[in-house]
Amino acid sequence: MADGTKDTKSSNQMWGGRFASGPDAIMEEINASIGFDKKLFAQDIRGSIAHATMLAHQGIISGDDKDKIVHGLNTILSEIESGNFEFSRQLEDIHMNVEARLAALIGPAAGRLHTARSRNDQVALDFRLWVKEELQKTEAMLTNLIAAFLDRAEEHAESVMPGFTHLQTAQPVTFGHHCMAYVEMFGRDRSRVRHAIEHLDESPIGAAALAGTGYPIDRHMTAKALGFREPTRNSIDTVSDRDFAIEFLSIAAICGMHLSRLAEEIVIWSTPQFGFVRLSDAFSTGSSIMPQKKNPDAAELVRAKTGRINGSLVALLTIMKGLPLAYSKDMQEDKEQVFDAAESLELAIAAMTGMVRDMTVNTARMKAAAGSGYSTATDLADWLVREVGLPFRDAHHVTGRAVALAESKGCDLAELPLTDLQAINAAITDKVYDVLTVEASVASRKSFGGTAPSEVRKQIAYWRARN
Ligand code: ARG
Repeated sequence: MADGTKDTKSSNQMWGGRFASGPDAIMEEINASIGFDKKLFAQDIRGSIAHATMLAHQGIISGDDKDKIVHGLNTILSEIESGNFEFSRQLEDIHMNVEARLAALIGPAAGRLHTARSRNDQVALDFRLWVKEELQKTEAMLTNLIAAFLDRAEEHAESVMPGFTHLQTAQPVTFGHHCMAYVEMFGRDRSRVRHAIEHLDESPIGAAALAGTGYPIDRHMTAKALGFREPTRNSIDTVSDRDFAIEFLSIAAICGMHLSRLAEEIVIWSTPQFGFVRLSDAFSTGSSIMPQKKNPDAAELVRAKTGRINGSLVALLTIMKGLPLAYSKDMQEDKEQVFDAAESLELAIAAMTGMVRDMTVNTARMKAAAGSGYSTATDLADWLVREVGLPFRDAHHVTGRAVALAESKGCDLAELPLTDLQAINAAITDKVYDVLTVEASVASRKSFGGTAPSEVRKQIAYWRARN
């Protein structure tokens, strides 16, 4: 033990044949994963049922033993689901907890379940099944978030707001167009999720410890029973690969980054200074000291969750980077990272979907802001190119002078008298005022993917058809 005393505990009942004594208390503590891998109980039991069924089908165990095993496993499943299962840390992990209980329930037949299998392929299977289900859940949640944005974009296809670069007013855009930018991002995240499901859709079970097995197993049968496309092709890779988990984490990190940018925009937009949106009471909190405050806590926490997800990605990459093939116990540290990131991502997507659906958009504030900051300067330059025939560089210069003049007079471009504009370039006519409004500006940007309401509606139709 840690204090140097001899441990009198008996050796492990699953693998302790060659051990004279049980583990030191610290060994038990560092070794055990049951505290977190019990989350895999349903996958573990499903995998064992498929394995036992295949063993019996191949004549490796008797039909009678298989029936006892399957019945026992189903009993354990309901015991765990109803909270009537006692997990033991001495039994290390979910696999051995289930197997020990099976032995208690059905006797010696339980010992036949682990034929032609190792915990190495067992854990690879359980974890893959879990990550696959999580990816499917993420896909559905992203579809919901996209749907929320599509509705807001449709509602605001014509609502003008300032578009920013460097967070400085750049050109007027529509709020619908801005929403559709996020649809593109979350749409790419969703296709990354779909690709990841494709990648991991191979069954590990039957790779055994690392070399495969001499028993006449049928890996295609277990793959099919467990809903995988096919079995994995290389047993060494099968037990040593965790890139399906790393792929999940990297997708989560990219999606988290998108969510965090949106969260940051919501934080900015909901300040009294901007006032572009108001969060619903359901997604904000008050201050315990300042009664006037309404804080965007949910958005801030979405922004922060991204930090945790990034941490998980870097942790697992680092855990894996030095491991020789095949399995090493280091790999047990994969699960908490993935579980934590999955929980953070789910919460972040759900909170963001709620905020997007609920927030009130202040179109008057957006429009007023869109018109300030000389946001239609590019439209003036384009008009000079189109109507007066100036080269764009010259038009840019003329416009710059107009902006400087407006600035010195403390007015907008559209408020400059024609005589002032003509003093800068004599060819300017009063037709120019048609393009100096924000509505005219956005309506003119009809290039494919542009901000004109007609284009935004095309983008919405495209995504509605893809959803
Ligand atoms: N709890 C272990 C893990 O999560 C299961 C595999 C153990 N395999 C072994 N050879 N010790 O990785």
